[in-house]
Amino acid sequence: MHYTDIHREILKWYIHNGRLDLPWRQTDDPYKIYISEMMLQQTQVKTVLERFYFPFLKRFPTLQSVAEASVDEVLYAWQGLGYYRRARYIHETAKIAAPDLPTDVESLIKLPGIGQSTAHAVAAFSTRAPVAILDANVKRILYRFFAKERTTPKELWQMAEALLDREHPYEYNQAMMDIGATVCLPKAPKCATCPLSSRCQGKEDPLKYPAKKAKKSRKSVVTHYLWIEKEEKILMVKRRSELLGGLYELPAVEEAPEGLKPIARIVHDYTHFRRIAKIYRLENDAVEGEWIEKKRLDEIAVSSLEKKIFKALGIGD
Ligand code: ADE
Repeated sequence: MHYTDIHREILKWYIHNGRLDLPWRQTDDPYKIYISEMMLQQTQVKTVLERFYFPFLKRFPTLQSVAEASVDEVLYAWQGLGYYRRARYIHETAKIAAPDLPTDVESLIKLPGIGQSTAHAVAAFSTRAPVAILDANVKRILYRFFAKERTTPKELWQMAEALLDREHPYEYNQAMMDIGATVCLPKAPKCATCPLSSRCQGKEDPLKYPAKKAKKSRKSVVTHYLWIEKEEKILMVKRRSELLGGLYELPAVEEAPEGLKPIARIVHDYTHFRRIAKIYRLENDAVEGEWIEKKRLDEIAVSSLEKKIFKALGIGD
């Protein structure tokens, strides 16, 4: 099947409507493109752009600079972005690949934390080669364009390959991301302005594709944290979990300390659950951990939840 007509429309659309000025589209440095893709895996363009991309690259301008840093320093630069495993992967990747990140899919995919989507995106955007890409936005376009209610990962990649514009792969790939983010919207697709609409098989009833998954309700988890203060120092522990490993947090306990009322209560949402954090002041140093000077709390890597707790207790900015 040929899609020359669609390719022409997409290219025209991209030139007029594409987000051409995104900084990771102003460079062919594979490292910078890789950092943008790692950030964008789970974080929105707006957030990455406004708060994280530039400061991270200022602190770590090259893959070599990441390789020379400790994982704690990388986590510190990543704090607030969430999914901290990504920062640990970047550090591991730098240790393996520095000074130069490879740009071919086969080598990229062997590196820690780089799956098929990230490998393809980094290869496609740094070399401008005809490599298909597939993120959540592009998937939605494909479901609709080919009128699929359900499909498999393998078939999604086949559809992505089939539709790829091999003459202008770079513009096509960036355009597909933009069309997914601004036109082929999940709830209110703007089919009238979509460059794929002339041949979109799903455009009569776009909300039918993909079929909706049964909604899981978000669970609430209550966690009890201890605020143990001594001589202007706070007791903190370093997390070892998959989600937040390497970050510092307040010590947590299974049960609320008897007879104490929380000094703060914070609600914090993650993708799959809501945490209700209750914080109790305790005069007890039987808990293991590190004493961190209160005025140095902004120098250690902590998650957004700790930041909220500090703020609620009037510490820091
Ligand atoms: N999400 C992932 N990669 C992206 C890119 N290159 N441009 C915009 N959004 C993205």
